[in-house]
Order: sequence, then C-alpha cells, then structure tokens
Amino acid sequence: MSVISAPYTFNEEDLYVDLQSITGRRLFLKCEGFNFAGSIKLKPATEMVEAAEQAGVLTPESVLVESSSGNMGVALSMIAASKGYQFLCVTDSRCNLPTRLLMEALGAHVHVVTEPSTDGGLLRARIDCVRTLCALDDRCVWLSQYTNPGNWKAHYLRTAPAIARSFPGLDVLFVGAGTTGTLMGCARYFREWHRPVRIVAVDSVGSVTFGGALGRRLLPGLGMSMCPPLLDESFVDEAVHVEEADSIRACHRLARRGFLFGGSTGTVVSGAMGWLALHDTRGLTAVAIAPDLGERYLDTVYQANWVRALYGEGVLDPDRPVAAGSRAARSAPPVPAPGPRVRHRRQEDETWAGDTTTAGLSRPSPGSWTAESAPLRDADGGRASDTVGEGG
Ligand SMILES: Cc1ncc(COP(=O)(O)O)c(C=O)c1O
Repeated sequence: MSVISAPYTFNEEDLYVDLQSITGRRLFLKCEGFNFAGSIKLKPATEMVEAAEQAGVLTPESVLVESSSGNMGVALSMIAASKGYQFLCVTDSRCNLPTRLLMEALGAHVHVVTEPSTDGGLLRARIDCVRTLCALDDRCVWLSQYTNPGNWKAHYLRTAPAIARSFPGLDVLFVGAGTTGTLMGCARYFREWHRPVRIVAVDSVGSVTFGGALGRRLLPGLGMSMCPPLLDESFVDEAVHVEEADSIRACHRLARRGFLFGGSTGTVVSGAMGWLALHDTRGLTAVAIAPDLGERYLDTVYQANWVRALYGEGVLDPDRPVAAGSRAARSAPPVPAPGPRVRHRRQEDETWAGDTTTAGLSRPSPGSWTAESAPLRDADGGRASDTVGEGG
C-alpha cells in the first residue's frame, strides 16, 4: 500500500510493458506516466524546485515561471499547488487544450504567446516573455528546464538506477530527446555502470538537436529548434530520427492492443524498432522509455481527422507494421560495443554563455537561453513557428 500526503511523492518507477507480442521484437517499455503529473517531467520538476529551495531562492512569495509546451508545466503546476507557490506557465498557441486546462485546474496562470519572434519563432517568443516577466517582477524565479542541471540529475538519481535495478544485463537503452534531460541523466549514469550500455537517442525528423534540418514538427515533447544546452554528445552512442507519421502509426498500433501512450512514446518505439531491425539482437536486453500516456492526445494523435489532415490517409492504415524510423540507425553492424559517440555539428559553448543555472535555477542574464547567438536554422525552409514541443 502507498499512502501519501503530497502528490509529487508518488511515482510508479518499476512498470514495463513487454512489447514482444505487439512488435515482434524483444523490447521493454518503461512507463513513466503513472504519477499525479502524468509524465516523466514529475522527476525533473521536483528536483529543480527542491534544489531552488535548498539554495534559499524560493520564498513563500516567489512566483515560479517556466516556458513549457505541456508536461513540465503540468508537473510544476502540481508541485506549486502542493507547496503553496504561485506558478506562471508561458506556453504558446499550440499547447493542447487538455494540458492548458489541467494547469489551470491546478491553480497555475497560463500565459499563451501567440506571436512568433521574428528571428526565433514561438519558442524564442516564449523565452523572451519569461525574461521580461522576470525583469519586471523580483518575485519571479525561472527554473529554466533547458539549462538547469537538476533536469538531468533527476534521471541520473532516479530513472536510470531504477532501470539498472530491473535490468542488470541491460545492453541498449532508447531515450527520446527533448531538452535532453532524460537522455543525459541516463547516459551519464550508465557510463559509470558495471557493464557497457549502448545509449541510443531518438529524435523527431525536423529537430536540429543532432544536426538535422529544421522542419515541421507537431508532436510535443521531443525535438528542438535550437541545440539543447544540456546535451553533451560524447555520452550518446547513436541518434536515430523518426518521421512523425511513423510515431503516429506506432501509437495506433499500441492502442489497438490496449496501450494508449503519448505521441513521443510512438516516436521512441518506432525508432527502437528501426534500430533493432538493423542489428543482430539475439540475446540482447533492450529498454525504451515512454514519457507519458495517451489521454492528452485524444484530439490529436488519436483523432482521425487531425491525423488525416496533417499526415495523409496512409498514416491511418491499420495493416502497416510498427514502422522503422525512416532515418533510423545509419549503420547496421551487429550490436557494437558502446564506443565512439555521435559525431555532428555542435554549437559553440558561448551560445549559452551568461546562464546562471549552476545553483539549480536561472535568473535571466544577458546572452543566456534567448541568446542572440542561438540561430534557428532553416535549412529546409521550415519555420520555427511550424514546430511544437521543444522538449517539455
Ligand atoms: C511527452 C514527452 N516526451 C518526451 C519528452 C522529452 O524529455 P526530455 O525533455 O527529458 O528530453 C518530454 C519532455 O517533457 C515530454 O513531455
């Protein structure tokens, strides 16, 4: 029996779905949606708030402020309500309605940015808004999930050790990449583990995180239109990219077997299937992380008209197998030992210079997250305003 008095203290950490019978591949899916915030973001949100408390930055008068596309906003809404802080979430016009209503039901103020910034789309407009709010009101504390080390530490301290306990023979771990907090926390933990684990990052086509071209992305959670400051590619063995149409097919396939997961889980499962199909995986122990559940996506991922209008009729074809990520694993040797890491463009460190997040939170400082030096690349003509999500 679990008995709690604060909602953020409960989290189901040990639930896995064996996908063998659904996908034909031996893959265990770690379910992160069973807590009162409904997503994996409970852990980094709790870690960041508690670090700020320990640093003495939060007072009863403090107003927490964060830019979020959804799940981090819901998690902070819940924690703020429980601890008695005010919380203001800056999101944008593509935040889905159920998520916005959830935050408001939990007492948060939700500010919706509708005008993209001329040079950086809606994400940058959101960050600009947070900075303005902080400049205008001393009570505001910006936790800055994009730069706060508490984001990845939460997964280093909780998510990865839980996987290690359940799978002492783990060989490959598939992790979706948004802010890259989950990825970096798990990758850092397993780098120090007793056996080598291959860390495979799963990203959306259209995200620039691992050097791809900026393009349209409509599923929240994964992918970034700017290089995530938390990412250290030296910890990542491989990155695979998945088309959103394949993410949706994977979601529908799982739903037909009674498992309703969020869109980013479809991405991770699709990417993992693609990778496993290309490697000799006999005897291999593979785990993937499912960040949330499907109820927040009923009017998008699971709504036929929405899917048809944005991805075409073919995506709804029930007979197609769980698709391999169309840009999945670039090479197909037997499972290689974790070794040389992903190699591709990385922005210079000074892109994020000026950030003051070492204490676990961020006061706006010139040149930090909204840095003028963080250009949005537009290699394929996609605009940042065509993207959504931006990692949580
Ligand atoms: C649904 C969903 N999937 C994936 C992620 C990516 O997690 P991270 O930001 O740790 O990379 C998030 C982040 O909030 C998310 O909300």
